[in-house]
Amino acid sequence: MNYRIREEIKNMKRYVAGKPISEVKRELGIETVVKMASNENPFGASPMVKEAILRTCEDVSLYPDSGSFGLRQELSQMTGRPMEEIFVGGGSDSLIKVISSTMLSRGDEIIMGEHSFSRYEDNAKLMGAVVVKTDMEKLVLNLDAMEKAITEKTKIIYLCNPNNPTGSSFGKADFEAFIAKVSSDILVIMDEAYREYVTREDYFDALEYLDDHKNLIVLRTFSKAYGMAGLRVGYGFADPELVGYFYRVVDPFDVNLFAQEAAVAALRDQAFLKEVIERNTEGKHFFYRELEKMGLPFVVSDTNFILWDTKKDDMEIFRRLMKKGYIIRPGGFLGIPGHIRVTISTMENNRGFMKAYKEVLKEMETGK
Ligand SMILES: Cc1ncc(COP(=O)(O)O)c(C=O)c1O
Repeated sequence: MNYRIREEIKNMKRYVAGKPISEVKRELGIETVVKMASNENPFGASPMVKEAILRTCEDVSLYPDSGSFGLRQELSQMTGRPMEEIFVGGGSDSLIKVISSTMLSRGDEIIMGEHSFSRYEDNAKLMGAVVVKTDMEKLVLNLDAMEKAITEKTKIIYLCNPNNPTGSSFGKADFEAFIAKVSSDILVIMDEAYREYVTREDYFDALEYLDDHKNLIVLRTFSKAYGMAGLRVGYGFADPELVGYFYRVVDPFDVNLFAQEAAVAALRDQAFLKEVIERNTEGKHFFYRELEKMGLPFVVSDTNFILWDTKKDDMEIFRRLMKKGYIIRPGGFLGIPGHIRVTISTMENNRGFMKAYKEVLKEMETGK
């Protein structure tokens, strides 16, 4: 058939998400499957989130508030930023699409790290824009290279901090040096999906730079540390003029009723968040210790996942681990062959994973 599909879409590939647990159980006929592939929160969401969802069932026949007033008000109170700077959407995925649709036309350029979040690229391509990827030596974003890649066509620079899929981050001094050099007609998007997990000491609050840099956009999400990936809610901060344009593009009811109520509840339970972060940090150090013992180089992580060089065929490791009930993300899917990315989970799962991983390595050595 000649469907006259847009050329931009013909050139795109479908996003490959981490395999769902149910699919692996079905395909392999195994009972217990642990997913450590999509950086979901193994500790779930706050009990207050669940209460808010149940309460909201009463109102399910109503459209949600298209301006997400209550949620934006709560975010404003928590961060001290005016409500007019805050925009929300069905996950930060949706906000990336909204920004891309608002800003990009055919031939415009975006700059992103070579190993960074793939949705930046997909959404730029959707608009016919050109994706310029900068080198990431040691799997860390190279801000100098990003600055050097700027041309008169550059409209957006994506700084994923901490960066997915590498887990690496950069600190305050590097950011200040970078933002000072970028012309104010180029948008700098700080995607901070994993910010709550950061442990490096020189991390900084990007919101403090909004007043002096009207071209800065900060994106955050409830999908990771708040444990609400299934509800789809992300939020951003930008100059109110930009926010006005984004609200012309975003679907009016992008953030559903449950998501709005649940996100407010999540923000009010900071004790839950603190516990999630502590448990993640404990798990992270477990991985560090194990990988050090095994002599495998890993990227120091400021997230809830860890990427390392297996020194072996990552796709084979991925397949063998799956048979043992552990779903991870092989570097082959991420453009970093030889590596695997594993979501930090409960200590029980972390230990179980390590045991299975060691068995897999032994099997591969002995050719079993
Ligand atoms: C860096 C980064 N940004 C954005 C997202 C999208 O998150 P959300 O669930 O809010 O759409 C993810 C999800 O994995 C991510 O890793």
